[in-house]
Amino acid sequence: MMRGKFITFEGGEGAGKSTQVRRLIAALDKRGIEALATREPGGAPSAEEIRSLLVSGPPDRWRPLSEALLLNAARNEHLERLIRPALEEGRWVISDRFADSTTAYQGYAQKLGTDVTAALEALVVGDTKPDLTIILDVPADRGLERAAVREGRNPEGETRYERFSMRFHETLRQAFLEIAKADPQRCVVIDAVQPEADVSAQIWHAVTARFAEVAT
Ligand code: TMP
Repeated sequence: MMRGKFITFEGGEGAGKSTQVRRLIAALDKRGIEALATREPGGAPSAEEIRSLLVSGPPDRWRPLSEALLLNAARNEHLERLIRPALEEGRWVISDRFADSTTAYQGYAQKLGTDVTAALEALVVGDTKPDLTIILDVPADRGLERAAVREGRNPEGETRYERFSMRFHETLRQAFLEIAKADPQRCVVIDAVQPEADVSAQIWHAVTARFAEVAT
């Protein structure tokens, strides 16, 4: 049995990740590839419980190290209970956020330091690194506008991260670009201000260029 592929989507608030995950799953399905959509923090019942501790409440609810530990606890549950078994069964896994979010949000924007996030990543993620990471890039103000519209339509109260300052969100954007620059083999940056269909066409191009299973 061939191991499945592991693809992650990253970016700031309101970059359109969840829409693009859905579109990619549909495109893969047309090619007869079964892919599982999942997200972080979350993706397993225990990890979803940790998510609810993180996404609501005041921005200073957690000290940055506690937050990084909670995120990595959730990630370990996600990896052990869902991601690794699915990949071993040959299924593809598409995750809306993964370890690069901890590097960007906690390592850079919350100033915990990337040495700390890298050490946690080595411990928790180990060899289960994504085969491809799509970074959706939008200016911080555009993304926050979109996220505010989304919350209005579907108020789940998950606004804790959106309430961090504009400077925080700008740092975040630069952090994702740094991550991409440091690992160009794995990461593809896509301008997510473009129309949704253009963004998904570029994502599909990146996927077909990389994986023989869907090569055109
Ligand atoms: P979402 O809004 O994309 O569902 O993500 C939930 C929030 O969690 C988002 O504001 C970013 C934050 N987050 C981190 O700060 N660090 C992480 O490692 C992950 C996975 C998410």
